[in-house]
Amino acid sequence: MTNVEFRLGEMEALPVADDSVDVIICNCVMNLSPEKPKVFEEAFCVLKGGGRLAVTDIVATAQLPGEVKQDLALHVACVAGAAPMDELKSMLEGAGFADVRIAPLNGSRDLVREWAPDKNLEDFIASATIEAIKPRRKREADMATD
Ligand SMILES: C[S@@+](CC[C@H](N)C(=O)[O-])C[C@H]1O[C@@H](n2cnc3c(N)ncnc32)[C@H](O)[C@@H]1O
Repeated sequence: MTNVEFRLGEMEALPVADDSVDVIICNCVMNLSPEKPKVFEEAFCVLKGGGRLAVTDIVATAQLPGEVKQDLALHVACVAGAAPMDELKSMLEGAGFADVRIAPLNGSRDLVREWAPDKNLEDFIASATIEAIKPRRKREADMATD
């Protein structure tokens, strides 16, 4: 393969140059960071103007019970670190993203319930798609339409 390169790194400090990436995708990773605003700021930084973030993750659809938030096993299982959707939207917009769309996936209830059948997880978390765009700088946008 000549068009794929693996780089070891952390999402809070991505091993790629600023303004160099067209699209960021990932599944169930950002949820694990205790520094989510930094993750979104870093994603914004490395994307080119007009670049897209299109990830899936677990989000909180209701306040997480304290016992869930404190449960390390549920943190590792991508449950306890789930952020509320309005907070995620604020974090993304705070990083500079536009067109932020966070959509819980219908049908994730059954999957989520299986993770801990005694904890009613499906009542306060869901799988969601999270999409956002890094706006083009004005000059760049003008050149693209010339
Ligand atoms: C739930 S798994 C991802 C599952 C995988 N994407 C899939 O779809 O099957 C979470 C992954 O995030 C990685 N991870 C955790 N913290 C990270 C960080 N700060 N930066 C980069 N990756 C991290 C873990 O090592 C693990 O591989």
